[in-house]
Amino acid sequence: MSIIFFLTFLLCCTSSVLSTKDDEKVLLKIKKQLGDPESLSWWVKGFDYCNASANTAPDFSYITCTDTGRVRSILLQNLDVTAPFPDAICELTEVQDLLLNHDPGLSGLIPPCITELPNLWEVIITDTSLSGPVPSFRDNPYLLGINLARNHLSGTIPSSFSNLPKLNYLEISGNYLNGTIPPHLVHASSSTLILGNNSLSGELPKCYAEVDFWLIDLGGNQLTGDASFLFGKQKKAVNIVLANNEFEFDLGNVEFSDNIYGFDLSHNKIYGKVPESFATAAGLYFPNLSFNKLCGELPQGGNMGRFSAAVFANNACLCGSPLPPCSTSAPAPAF
Ligand SMILES: *[C@@H]1O[C@H](CO)[C@@H](O)[C@H](O)[C@H]1NC(C)=O
Ligand SMILES: *[C@@H]1O[C@H](CO)[C@@H](O)[C@H](O)[C@H]1NC(C)=O
Ligand SMILES: *[C@@H]1O[C@H](CO)[C@@H](O)[C@H](O)[C@H]1NC(C)=O
Ligand SMILES: *[C@@H]1O[C@H](CO)[C@@H](O)[C@H](O)[C@H]1NC(C)=O
Repeated sequence: MSIIFFLTFLLCCTSSVLSTKDDEKVLLKIKKQLGDPESLSWWVKGFDYCNASANTAPDFSYITCTDTGRVRSILLQNLDVTAPFPDAICELTEVQDLLLNHDPGLSGLIPPCITELPNLWEVIITDTSLSGPVPSFRDNPYLLGINLARNHLSGTIPSSFSNLPKLNYLEISGNYLNGTIPPHLVHASSSTLILGNNSLSGELPKCYAEVDFWLIDLGGNQLTGDASFLFGKQKKAVNIVLANNEFEFDLGNVEFSDNIYGFDLSHNKIYGKVPESFATAAGLYFPNLSFNKLCGELPQGGNMGRFSAAVFANNACLCGSPLPPCSTSAPAPAF
């Protein structure tokens, strides 16, 4: 009996000690791949990498561990390095959160091996000079969130994001992506999709009418066509940004929900009237309809007192408070 106990103990605990050592080796390899930066000077042989209290300074990198001492989360930020992506990270096979923030000296490709890390649930790689294609994640049952904002990634958005059943946060804003937006990128409840400031073109696939968005930001692209299906009386989205595109639809047919807090439709080709529900949407505080082709009398009453003339500026022929009154009886201007 006690021998079995002893053996079990030996098995369990030597293997966890071994794997602890394994991750130490991997971390030291990562440090080396990054060129031994000063910012990671606390990563030394035998360091207690699971003890986060040794490095709680803000803007500092950190590591957290599983019960067995394997790296669970790794955040590398403000490293002040000039280096490629340290692909030894792919040897941290228990890692769930992989975060590289504000490391502008990191360049080259994001190695595809990160997509094969089996336990990932969050990947955040932002504000680097990493370039090349967006990695294709596939069939990962845990991945909830991916943020690749403000890198130098180019090419098209892989449609394989649609195979991630739990993905509800996808951000790839501020890169050089082109091509169209693939269908079904996110589908879980309360999804966020942020693809702003790229060179995406074409129409937004109609399947996004069915997505229960919390936030969608497609601003600063070359998107065309109808996106009015993102709006609706029953929708839960609190913020919708379509600004600086070529969207073209009739706003008169749109119904705003009481959940929406802000939307930016400025700098598009949106036409028609501002609908009555604009004035009655209870939660609406930050709309922007400027620089479109809207026309007609603004709805009155309700929330209209919240909005300045700037919200409606530079349209075809909007009128009524807070804009100058409509002068239907005025004679046509003489030339
Ligand atoms: C973490 O480090 C601190 C200070 O070095 C030490 O007091 C504490 O006991 C360590 N905690 C663990 C869990 O090792
Ligand atoms: C995207 O841009 C690349 C150059 O960066 C170009 O070769 C490719 O044809 C473009 N694709 C689309 C769909 O516009
Ligand atoms: C796009 O760029 C503008 C201007 O710099 C910025 O205000 C906006 O937040 C950016 N959008 C996203 C989604 O990053
Ligand atoms: C609306 O958008 C325009 C153009 O982007 C901007 O200049 C203006 O400040 C915005 N107005 C409001 C009220 O948000």
